[in-house]
Amino acid sequence: AIPLIIDTDPGVDDAFALALAARSPEVDLIGVTTVFGNVDLDHTTRNARRLLKFLGHDAPVARGEAHPRGERKKRDAGDVHGDDGLSGLAHTLPEPTRPLDERDAVTFLRDTIEGTDARVTVAAIGPLTNIAKLIEDHPATASRIGRLVVMGGGLDEGNVTSTAEFNLWSDPEAAKTVLAKANPTLVTIDLTRRCAVYADWLDLVGESGLGKILVGFAKQYREYFKGRTGKDGIVVHDAVAVAEAIVPGILETKTYHLTTDDEGALKEGPHEIDVATGTDLDALREFLKDRLMRP
Ligand code: BDR
Ligand code: CA
Repeated sequence: AIPLIIDTDPGVDDAFALALAARSPEVDLIGVTTVFGNVDLDHTTRNARRLLKFLGHDAPVARGEAHPRGERKKRDAGDVHGDDGLSGLAHTLPEPTRPLDERDAVTFLRDTIEGTDARVTVAAIGPLTNIAKLIEDHPATASRIGRLVVMGGGLDEGNVTSTAEFNLWSDPEAAKTVLAKANPTLVTIDLTRRCAVYADWLDLVGESGLGKILVGFAKQYREYFKGRTGKDGIVVHDAVAVAEAIVPGILETKTYHLTTDDEGALKEGPHEIDVATGTDLDALREFLKDRLMRP
């Protein structure tokens, strides 16, 4: 199995992504690192630990950066994900028993990537602050990453501004570093939005024990989607990116020449980046459904 570390800010779609990884035999989830983002770092860290406990998964969790670099002002997405990141339902998850890892996220990433024989895949599904710090503080380790899959950016769309997507917008300097130095596969919202799942999918997934809880977490997120699109569904951005980390090639990619501007919006630039541009939408939805319904 591919060793996988997920860097995350749970977050409703992060919860789907963690569950997907935990239920997929192609990967061995060897660690989770947390970052501020959808809600503050205390909440994202607590949510990550509780979610793993709930999933019956014993991966270590290491706490990462609480703030973007530089002068960047934070803006959370509590209006979309709920003030606790999970539609007000985080307290229904079990208390974690495994203690928080003693190391910070960057040290944990360094030790784990260096200490694992096989090349590690990293899926970054929150602001890129931890990953940029790893690249800057430990460049040799960063170059040992087997594959870095990032959920972030938009080629023709944004969700914070008309051109900027939340994860890159949250720490544009970090995004710039990652695009310049880490050769990521970028899963942008142009594609994740096309992979939206609708009421019939949510009903089916909700018939399983795990799915029912996940669909419950999506309550507020679902209302937000309805307000934006008029349809009953959700966009599981992060789970789409993690699907590519689990099954390389499940998304089609094309090479673009990109960088980011000061707001974290993608624009033409010098870095050759593989961007996920398409997939068999029904097959992907089926794949996600199948995995999330596993006991
Ligand atoms: C990204 O931002 C967050 O709100 C989601 O969890 C996802 O990682 C989508 O723009
Ligand atoms: Ca996220």
